[in-house]
Amino acid sequence: MNLLSSIDATELPVTALDGDEFWYKDAIIYQLHVKAFADSNNDGIGDFAGLTEKLGYLQDLGVTALWLLPFYPSPGRDDGYDIADYGAINPDFGTMKDFRRFIVEAKRRGLRVITELVVNHTSDQHDWFKRARRSDPKSSARNWYVWSDTDQKYAGTRIIFTDTEKSNWTWDPEAGQFYWHRFFSHQPDLNFDNPRVVSALVQVMKRWLDTGVDGFRLDAIPYLCERAGTNNENLPETHAVIRTLRAELDAYAKGKVLLAEANQWPEDVQEYFGRGDECQMAYHFPLMPRIYMAIAQEDRFPITDILRQTPDIPGNCQWALFLRNHDELTLEMVTDVERDYLWSTYANDPRARINVGIRRRLAPLMDNDRRKIELMNSLLLSFPGTPIIYYGDEIGMGDNIYLGDRNGVRTPMQWTPDRNGGFSRADPARLYAPTIMDPVYGYESVNVEAQSRSLSSLLSATKRLISVRKSTLAFGRGTMTFIRPVNRSVLAYVRQYQDEVILCVANLSRSAQATELDLS
Ligand code: GLC
Ligand code: CA
Repeated sequence: MNLLSSIDATELPVTALDGDEFWYKDAIIYQLHVKAFADSNNDGIGDFAGLTEKLGYLQDLGVTALWLLPFYPSPGRDDGYDIADYGAINPDFGTMKDFRRFIVEAKRRGLRVITELVVNHTSDQHDWFKRARRSDPKSSARNWYVWSDTDQKYAGTRIIFTDTEKSNWTWDPEAGQFYWHRFFSHQPDLNFDNPRVVSALVQVMKRWLDTGVDGFRLDAIPYLCERAGTNNENLPETHAVIRTLRAELDAYAKGKVLLAEANQWPEDVQEYFGRGDECQMAYHFPLMPRIYMAIAQEDRFPITDILRQTPDIPGNCQWALFLRNHDELTLEMVTDVERDYLWSTYANDPRARINVGIRRRLAPLMDNDRRKIELMNSLLLSFPGTPIIYYGDEIGMGDNIYLGDRNGVRTPMQWTPDRNGGFSRADPARLYAPTIMDPVYGYESVNVEAQSRSLSSLLSATKRLISVRKSTLAFGRGTMTFIRPVNRSVLAYVRQYQDEVILCVANLSRSAQATELDLS
């Protein structure tokens, strides 16, 4: 680390990073929380210095971009998605200097960095909200958030955090009005009808672009604007705001990317690509649960069906694919029947359920079956779009459904069989969350060190899949054509880009299958 402090960004060699404006199509993204990755100063909380020390591991894994969960000052009531200051680093995770050193080192290793732009709401501890609530109802300061004298306005808007919230309005005694929030009641929604709000967020974006980040995940993007008589999702006014953000992004820096978090049906998500002038990437939320469905039913139909319904997207755009992330495995984009099926298959224990989803990691969802985990990863890495791997899933980490909220899938990364899984030298009681310690998934049996030494480990298998993915542009950029053998437990598809043609065949069942493929 001492070496790093002497490195100046201007001395660094020019890497391949500056070249390709469509880099995100060929990327393999690794999602992590700084807090959960590596603790350098042994206070029990992961930090940027710790993460910087682990960049060699990530480079060796083969991923090409990192998506960092929110690392800004925050009361931490929604794991940092409740931001109190957009411009700074949460002191628990280090300093701005540590962050800059991390960026320099990541770039030196050819790793891009995507950060969070939580645009929809702030923490109620943000200065903007503190000022708004104490200002006159007619003042411009009040106008930064969405207020009402009644809690009956915008009826017909669904509640997202169904386990905790009863209404999208909360009474603020100081303001003497209700404020609007689509998520937790401590997360007031910003008012996007106020141009000052939009320009403030543009300033935030530029501030982080100046540090060298390569893109932003736009959190909870469908809910920016409200209009009476609508369900307040995906409104044209919201798309206008996103186009403004994109235009500002392109005018300020080249080759930077916006990734839309819009948990919506394909035809609605499609709108977030615009005409190639909104977000370059958007998560494919409906595909994800259908991959789980196909594996459980040993039938390719849920996958082929949703991909058939997936519209073409503009040439500069790309789907973002994932199996798991830091949230519950959301079941919002399935029918009621499908949801019941997925709940009873994958979350028989009611503790595993939260909101409209399942709070488990990939390995426990697959009952720790190595072949199923590898099958899932091979689909993730060969489907059209850019894959995102959730930290720890490359070694098959487990979860802890007895922790509150979604914290059970956010436990410390497991590096070694030593104390705290090598995550931290702090007293175990001091860790931000307990490590996984059960006999199956605990750090003594599941850790990076052990798996690095074995070519037959899940980690080694994941690395091989990643290198296959990287061996051709066909996976990131090519077309996908299904071959439909009679046996529906066989999923066969061709990925093609220019002259390169790749045949992928997956057996979705738990037993050997015979089939004929028509390759004419
Ligand atoms: C996004 C995040 C989730 C967070 C929510 C509210 O959905 O992924 O973790 O709780 O936004 O900020
Ligand atoms: Ca620390």
